[in-house]
Amino acid sequence: MSSRANTKPTSALSVNTSRKATQEVYFCNLAKLTSKALTQASPAASLLSDRQAVVLVDKRVHSLWAEQLESAPILKDSAMLLLPVGEKAKTFPTAETTLRSLSKLGVARNDHYIIAVGGGALLDAAGFIASLYHRGLPIVHIPTTLLAMVDATLGGKTSVNFLGSKNQIGTFHLPVLTLLSLDFLSTLTEEHLRDGLIESVKMAFLSSTRDLDAATHNAVKVLDGDQDAASRLVLAALRNKSPYVRDDMLDQGKRTLLNLGHTTGHALEAVYGGRMSHGNAVGNGILVAMEIAREMGKLAKRTPALIDDMLSACAFTPLMVQDAAHLARLLWGSVSTDKKISGGEATFVLPLAPGKAELAQVNMEMFSEAAVRVFQQPPPVVESPLDDDES
Ligand SMILES: NC(=O)c1ccc[n+]([C@@H]2O[C@H](COP(=O)([O-])OP(=O)(O)OC[C@H]3O[C@@H](n4cnc5c(N)ncnc54)[C@H](O)[C@@H]3O)[C@@H](O)[C@H]2O)c1
Repeated sequence: MSSRANTKPTSALSVNTSRKATQEVYFCNLAKLTSKALTQASPAASLLSDRQAVVLVDKRVHSLWAEQLESAPILKDSAMLLLPVGEKAKTFPTAETTLRSLSKLGVARNDHYIIAVGGGALLDAAGFIASLYHRGLPIVHIPTTLLAMVDATLGGKTSVNFLGSKNQIGTFHLPVLTLLSLDFLSTLTEEHLRDGLIESVKMAFLSSTRDLDAATHNAVKVLDGDQDAASRLVLAALRNKSPYVRDDMLDQGKRTLLNLGHTTGHALEAVYGGRMSHGNAVGNGILVAMEIAREMGKLAKRTPALIDDMLSACAFTPLMVQDAAHLARLLWGSVSTDKKISGGEATFVLPLAPGKAELAQVNMEMFSEAAVRVFQQPPPVVESPLDDDES
């Protein structure tokens, strides 16, 4: 399925959104993929065939994959702009510098399109830039992290971070095409793999018990370097996410459920200032949401064990701190500056059972109690003098 040896791309998915726009997704072998093969396979690519591409690429990805990127048939004749690594790309100054560069290159709305190569941060930033330039250039994604393959590439959310909060400013700008090349996974750290795995099992939990079982099973194999399992996991995650994008691209209804783990997750990322990865933050956020559901008496009996299994399969280690009440206060402060709060309550997605999640309005007390239960380190075990006497 990964088309490693093939010159022809293999269709993974095509999503027709509620906005009457379509995103096509293909597995491909970037080293062998020619424009001709791509335009033959993909209606979207054939519509772009009389335009010139400008490639926006994450600097680190470029340094690791320079030879392959510069010799890839579909990239090698295009101007290439290097953007700062990871989250540093998701800023207004980077957007402005890149917009200036596009202008200097003479990029025109009807003659050009953008190819974005990188992780979720680069795709978010490039999408934001593409959506603004001359009111919108078409964009093609080549995601290079597992998280970007299973999640960030699908659905057209673009963003930059602002005033210390994640994704505060953004647009909706659907990529016309995504090209998945699993070879990029070979240079990811285990931590980055874990980030993608956590989003995949989250999506599977929202879908069904069957999808959750499959994702949990594949996650373990992906950590062992099994590329077929990676291919199955990516495909399933995209399929699990696609109904949310198809029915609610603008995130005003059911797509909100994909935020499972993200209200606390974004707050953890803000409080830890980039020292906690996105996947890890979401994993911890899922645990807090589960505790809130327990407090509300809504949690199915089997859910805690299933969530424990799915996160363990991703080699996730829960956060434990000495003063969880203090952390809870910091997190609520961050949640309060986030866009999800109104009337002193924040919106959380509660994971009730596989295939069953719901939104809840949560106040500070309820959040703090749940957060303390999740994050409080157990007191150290001190040997009692009696134990000594007995020995
Ligand atoms: N738009 C969406 O729907 C959506 C969904 C989920 C996440 N996101 C966003 O995605 C971002 C997280 O994405 P991410 O986890 O991919 O992080 P990232 O893009 O910051 O990449 C993580 C690190 O990995 C490096 N990297 C990228 N590809 C690599 C490769 N193949 N080998 C080695 N290193 C590589 C990057 O340079 C960076 O240092 C967040 O900003 C999040 O908000 C967006």
